[in-house]
Amino acid sequence: MSLYLDNAATTYPKPPSVYRAVRHALEEVGATPGRAAHRKAREALGMVAAARVQVAGILGIGDCDRVVFTKNATESINVVLKGWLRHRDRVVISGMEHNSVVRPLRRLSSLGVVFETIRCRPGGQIDLDDFRKRLDPSPRLVVLVHASNVNGALQPLQEAAGMCSKRGVPLLLDAAQTAGIQPISATDWDLGMLACSGHKALLGPPGVGILYVRPDLDVLPLMEGGTGSRSEDVLQPEFCPDRYESGTPNLPGIAGLSAGIEFILERGMDRIRAHELGLGSMLENELSGMQGVKVLRPEIRGTGAVSFTIDGLNPGDAGAILDEGFDIAVRTGLHCAPLAHQTLGTFPEGTVRVSPGYATTVEDIEYFLRALRALLSRR
Ligand SMILES: Cc1ncc(COP(=O)(O)O)c(C=O)c1O
Repeated sequence: MSLYLDNAATTYPKPPSVYRAVRHALEEVGATPGRAAHRKAREALGMVAAARVQVAGILGIGDCDRVVFTKNATESINVVLKGWLRHRDRVVISGMEHNSVVRPLRRLSSLGVVFETIRCRPGGQIDLDDFRKRLDPSPRLVVLVHASNVNGALQPLQEAAGMCSKRGVPLLLDAAQTAGIQPISATDWDLGMLACSGHKALLGPPGVGILYVRPDLDVLPLMEGGTGSRSEDVLQPEFCPDRYESGTPNLPGIAGLSAGIEFILERGMDRIRAHELGLGSMLENELSGMQGVKVLRPEIRGTGAVSFTIDGLNPGDAGAILDEGFDIAVRTGLHCAPLAHQTLGTFPEGTVRVSPGYATTVEDIEYFLRALRALLSRR
């Protein structure tokens, strides 16, 4: 039995309709959207427009023209950080951020941007009192990861967003782990910006990300180029989404994302969430009872991702045994989030991370637990 438990990295398998949609876009549509008037280009444009409406719906974005397609969450985050921050700006981030936030900020710090980290509780949730203090004086930007890719910890997002909104501080939400599984209301929560991947819980293929920027925030684009609009003007269009969408769009990726969202709506996001959180809790409870295993329990679980360490066994070695001895794919190490591991006390070795997805069954988790018990008994 081959078992994939690395859905926090990317969902696998995708729903069959996603593979079909990618194939259809490549084999039967083929054209570039928004660049020509022929029927095939118009069909492609219609597909992209329909996907924008679906994304706006699932992320609570009031105006679908504010939905920007990027390559991935990393690109979306980079657009915001590099297009919004200036010399000497102060940025407040959580202690659970991914390297897609920390690395660009490190680079920007050489240009005079300063960033500071909100204190977190032992499970990874931000301390709201510490957060409140850091909002005075107002920073230029707050960045929060909605749920951690390390242990699934869900942040008290609505409270934090309300505090930012009251002070007029833009909040960039990294929803890479939660888009498609947790309810998100970008407009109602008054988010400044939102970044997410299309290939995780939104069930699309890799190569598509999403960016939302509130209309009043003048975030400069990272790239300029052909948009298929206002071609007579040498300046980049200022309107959305064209301002941030230069170059040929990823039609197969967007078509696949559209099919992924359709699948979520048909099955029901609440049902998928209950399923994944249930598997996460099952893992957490069973692992906690095993001798020598320490689970990084979040205060509130937002995804099914569970991280743990094993006394006397390096996470990478445990992952290799699970892979080669039991054909189970888990992720080990730092998960591109060393800051989160520093916060949780598991830096530099990291953890073993098990992340079930919509397609994972209770039997799969039982198989994994049997394999882990066998691994532990052999030591
Ligand atoms: C919390 C978080 N933020 C950002 C990213 C980056 O996403 P992508 O690889 O799609 O750019 C990830 C990916 O694992 C993530 O888990």
